[in-house]
Amino acid sequence: MYQNWQELEKACSGCQKCILGKTRTNLVFGVGNPEAKVLFIGEGPGEQEDLKGEPFVGRSGQLLDKMLDAVDLDRHKNIYIANMVKCRPPQNRDPLPEEQEECIGWLRAQTALIRPKIIVCLGRIAAMRIIDPKIKITRQHGQWVEKGGIWMMATLHPAALLRDPRKKPEAFEDFLSLRNKMRELQIDV
Ligand code: URA
Repeated sequence: MYQNWQELEKACSGCQKCILGKTRTNLVFGVGNPEAKVLFIGEGPGEQEDLKGEPFVGRSGQLLDKMLDAVDLDRHKNIYIANMVKCRPPQNRDPLPEEQEECIGWLRAQTALIRPKIIVCLGRIAAMRIIDPKIKITRQHGQWVEKGGIWMMATLHPAALLRDPRKKPEAFEDFLSLRNKMRELQIDV
């Protein structure tokens, strides 16, 4: 158990637990307010994220920021954003189960310090690992489950919305539902 955020970030910064450590430009620890009550979890860094060392800074990140803004959320103020894996998988392939396994300890340590009341999984990879290995995200996105005192929901990955913009309204409903859940749990923005 890490005592504070700085200690955790420092320990994580040189991680070489899996092969993704060899090819990364930057480790992408996360962005946001570690005191926030809402934690978003994506899949893993892409090219832009690897170059900048920040999650969701490419096109899908711009879309994510817009959807967040529509419900008064801001990556620098009232949420925290992390990924299932902290280093870029080559050619943006899905992170392998063993890479996720090696990396998840960092995410668990982040979650232990943040103590979020809500976790939103961005896309299938995070949803399968965090919510339910059998989740069918096309059908089950927007559904809430409570686990260990934390409310969890999966929504469609912003990259999937860029590939198929017809799905944007469905994803936006999930963000409205998040806003309602925050109100219900008396989480201020
Ligand atoms: N996609 C993700 O899942 N995470 C990022 O940080 C960027 C793109």
